[in-house]
Amino acid sequence: MKVFSEISEVRKCRWRDASLNWGLVPTMGLLHEGHLSLVRRARNENQKVGVSIFVNPIQFNNQQDLVSYPRDLERDLELLRKEGVDLVWTPTPNIVYATDFQTFVEVERITRPLEGKARPGHFRGVTTVVAKIFNVFQPHRAYFGQKDAQQAVVIRQMVRDLNFNLDLITCPTVRETDGLAMSSRNARLSPAARRQAVCLFRALTAAENAFHAGARNAAKLKSVMEKTTEPFDKARIDYISVAHPETLDELTAINEKALLSLALFIDDLRLIDNLILG
Ligand code: PAF
Repeated sequence: MKVFSEISEVRKCRWRDASLNWGLVPTMGLLHEGHLSLVRRARNENQKVGVSIFVNPIQFNNQQDLVSYPRDLERDLELLRKEGVDLVWTPTPNIVYATDFQTFVEVERITRPLEGKARPGHFRGVTTVVAKIFNVFQPHRAYFGQKDAQQAVVIRQMVRDLNFNLDLITCPTVRETDGLAMSSRNARLSPAARRQAVCLFRALTAAENAFHAGARNAAKLKSVMEKTTEPFDKARIDYISVAHPETLDELTAINEKALLSLALFIDDLRLIDNLILG
């Protein structure tokens, strides 16, 4: 497995044999089974697999969150070696953003609600760095998790709008045995908060059960989710949403599919999760 921080080195390795297909998994490190499921899928579907590990400063709207973002590069590289990854890009911030950097990629309408509303500037940072990572690797396929549902929709829009020549693949959320969606942030939950973090999945499954029992009214489903979180005294709801899975417009009633999503603070850690209904 080759590990490089310089862009020229990554490009040299990527283009050594131009006939080979590359799959790419962009990450911010502290890898867990969710990331590894993307790597395995990429391994199955491509001749070569590239991974980027970069904690992207411009997608953090909260400096404290950036400073305390968990990192463990040696462990990450060990995990990727075991998965048979070919190439890892581990740039420093000054390699990605030169001092006179001044070009950003911004997807408009679908970045405004949900995470975009709660975290101003977040998606501008994500799309800018993902566009750069795509340009460095020029992969045939790129893999993202459904856990960050809006991110996947936003990147899909960017790929369409800017004609990136790649297939985007969204892979299912990987969960702990109690249902908590895997996330690098989970490492920051205290044991008591970790026990309560299951309330996101409980809320989603309660709404899903109501949907299967015939409920189609969005307000009803939101109220089911809200009630499910009530017994968890550390949980504070940021938003609960029932939206169209592609436009992300809020729905009043579900005709076909809906993206059910929520963001909660458990103590002061913000967690998100989602399910597609229908
Ligand atoms: O999902 C993530 O880990 C990040 O947002 C991404 C896509 C690697 C961009 O920094």
